[in-house]
Amino acid sequence: MTTRQLFTIFNNHPDEWLSGAHLAEELGISRTAIWKQIQQLKKQGHDIVSHQGLGYQYRASAKLNAPAILAHLSQYPDVVCQVFEELDSTNDYAKAYLSQHPKLSPTVILAEKQTRGRGRLGRQFYSPANTGLYMSILLTLKPGQEVHPSLLTTGTGTAVVRAIRKLYPDLMVALKWINDLVIHQRKCGGILTEAITDLESGQISHLIVGIGLNISTSEFPDDLTQIAGALSDERLDRNRLAAEILEQFFAMYQTYQNGDFLPDYRRFSAILNHPVLVQTVQTQGKTLSGTVVDFDYQGYLVLKDSSGQKITVQGGEVTKVTSD
Ligand code: BTN
Repeated sequence: MTTRQLFTIFNNHPDEWLSGAHLAEELGISRTAIWKQIQQLKKQGHDIVSHQGLGYQYRASAKLNAPAILAHLSQYPDVVCQVFEELDSTNDYAKAYLSQHPKLSPTVILAEKQTRGRGRLGRQFYSPANTGLYMSILLTLKPGQEVHPSLLTTGTGTAVVRAIRKLYPDLMVALKWINDLVIHQRKCGGILTEAITDLESGQISHLIVGIGLNISTSEFPDDLTQIAGALSDERLDRNRLAAEILEQFFAMYQTYQNGDFLPDYRRFSAILNHPVLVQTVQTQGKTLSGTVVDFDYQGYLVLKDSSGQKITVQGGEVTKVTSD
């Protein structure tokens, strides 16, 4: 029996009691073997309650767990998943891992905690233990395969919001261009996409898509208390959410270059039709002011300034959103 099979059963019966006899029959092994396996999982930190006469109940997501995530991902059997208690940064680990394993199937790295989580523009991403989702998706590109960074980032943001809204329709999570996830006007997550270039060919050989989400983080360092937030004050099933994000991500990734997710990106946007200030990359940090009128077919931000002129911004940061 694999742990993945056991988690498949637990995942299909969330918060239900499952008898040892039932599990043993489903998996074709003895009740003692089930008992041993469950003791092992408890030792690893999984919240599995045993009750004489009732059996076992898996309380989801006390811990991130690769088999529990993969059990939801039956459509993508070649995805590999690694979970760590602590890493400096899942993106940095992914880079180091790639240098040892250049030709791998899609691999997902998750950590319960990051000691040096990284954000865009050289910032840190606060990543305390057990209350967030910090994961990196490693993708190997085919020779000559083109990458559109802006569409990949907006597509990933769309995939994350689709996943959250599917599992938790009451959570009004939205996107602030280009990659911030916001809830109740507070930042609750972000995306850091990085490319690895093959020095010989000069082409991009791999992509690392880092996704960070504050799930139930309730305390933030002083400099973040006014701007950061979390998805919920309840403990959500992080394994289920990680799996749904991955499912949405891989579905989006197949066709992201044609921008077919952009209608959803626009729908999820917290800034469309709002006046904003944008610190741009292309004009050496100059601040632009205007109303957001669109995200174009490349995922770029389209602003209309006070004279009615349209300006397309390829990269930068929305620094201020006025409410209307
Ligand atoms: C941002 O908002 O600026 C991007 C934040 C990205 C954070 C994630 S957490 C997982 C992955 N590992 C990192 O070090 N960063 C990304």
